[in-house]
Amino acid sequence: MKIDIVSIFPDYLAPLELSLPGKAQAKGLLDIAVHDLRQWTHDRHHTTDDTPYGGGAGMVMKPEPWAQALDALTGDGSTIVFTTPSGAPFTQAMATELSGQDHLVFACGRYEGIDQRVIDHAASIGEVREISIGDYVLNGGEVAALAITEAVVRLLPGFMSNPESLTEESHEGGLLEYPVYTKPASWRGHDVPPVLLSGNHAAIAHWRHDQAVRRTAERRPDLAHPATLVDEGELRLVQPGDAGEIYTLQRACWLAELEANPGVEIPALKETLEDVRRWIAEDTVFVLRSGGRLVGAVRASLHGSSWHLGRLMVAPDLSGRGLGRMLLETIESAAPDEVGTYELFTGARSERNLKMYKKAGYRRGDGDAPPGAVHLSKRRR
Ligand SMILES: C[S@@+](CC[C@H](N)C(=O)[O-])C[C@H]1O[C@@H](n2cnc3c(N)ncnc32)[C@H](O)[C@@H]1O
Repeated sequence: MKIDIVSIFPDYLAPLELSLPGKAQAKGLLDIAVHDLRQWTHDRHHTTDDTPYGGGAGMVMKPEPWAQALDALTGDGSTIVFTTPSGAPFTQAMATELSGQDHLVFACGRYEGIDQRVIDHAASIGEVREISIGDYVLNGGEVAALAITEAVVRLLPGFMSNPESLTEESHEGGLLEYPVYTKPASWRGHDVPPVLLSGNHAAIAHWRHDQAVRRTAERRPDLAHPATLVDEGELRLVQPGDAGEIYTLQRACWLAELEANPGVEIPALKETLEDVRRWIAEDTVFVLRSGGRLVGAVRASLHGSSWHLGRLMVAPDLSGRGLGRMLLETIESAAPDEVGTYELFTGARSERNLKMYKKAGYRRGDGDAPPGAVHLSKRRR
C-alpha cells in the first residue's frame, strides 16, 4: 500500500516512522510519504489560507495549492481522504475497507477547513472519503490522519505476526473486548478472575463472552442491539421444539459453505425438517438463544471412543464474536468419560472454519472425508 499525506505541518507526522507504520514500512508492506502543502504555493509567503467568502471568523484553506498537490499525487485507483469533523465517523469496518485499497492520499485540513471546491475537484480525479475520528474538533487533520493510518496499517495482510489476535478485538463483531490480564495472578490485593486460571477452555470462552457483552451494554449501549447480545444462560440442551429453528438456521449457515465449496454436496442443505427432528432426538445437541431467537447450535455423537462433532452453526450476522468457539468448547466438554478423540469434517475450502478449528487444536486426521471435505481430529486432554 502507498500512503501520501499532505499537511502544512509535515513534522507533526514524524511518528509514522515509529511503531506500527514504521514496522510496516520496514517489512516492505507500506510506502508512506509526507508532503508539505507549501511546496505547491507560488507566492513569497507560501500562503495556504485566505478569508472566508460571506464573512465570519477564521481562515479557509485556498484551493490552488490543494488542487496542485492532489493532481501531483493522485492517479487511477487513489482514494483521497479528507479528515474533517463533519465527515463520516471512522469505524473498524472502515479501517478494514481502507486496508484493501492500494493508494490513500490524506488531506489534512487546518484553520476552518479546506475550500469545498477542492473536495469537489478531488471527486473527479479519485474516490473521495470525508472522515471524522470523533465528535470533537481538533486544530488540524494530522492527528486524524495518524489515527486512521495506524488502524488501517495493522490490518494489512502480513503485517501482524499473529493475525488471529485481530479477530477477537473490540469492534470486530460488534462487541467491545473482554478485560485481559497477565502475570502475576495476584497483584496489590487484586486477583485475576479464577476462571482464567482454571484451564477450562469452555468456561474461559463463556466468561470472556459474558464480559464482552456486559461491557458493551454498559459502555456502548448504542452498539449493543438486544438481538445481538447473546446471553450465556441461554446456552442449553436442545428441546424437540427447537427443530424448526435449527432447520432454518442451518440453511442460512451452510449457504456460505456452498459458496466457499462450489459443487460440493452439503447434507445440511439437503435435509428435511423430519431429518433434523430425528438427529436432535438421537444426538447430544446444544442450542444458543438471544432475545428469544435461536442463534447457534452444535451436535455430537459417540462412536467407540470418539466424539463426532458436527453442525456447528452461528447466525451469520453474529459471526466473529467467539460464539462458534464457545459452542465448540461446550460440546467438547459434554463428551462422556470414555472419549479419547474429537473428530469432525469441514469443507476443504472453508477457510474461516479451518482457522477456528486449527486455533482450537484440531489437526488434519487420517479418516475418510466426504468429497470436498477434510477430516479433522484432536486428542482429548
Ligand atoms: C479547527 S478544524 C476545522 C473545523 C471546522 N471549522 C468545522 O467546524 O467543521 C481544522 C481541521 O482539523 C481537522 N479535524 C478537526 N477535528 C477533526 C475530527 N474530529 N476528525 C477529523 N479531522 C478533524 C480537519 O482536517 C479540519 O479541517
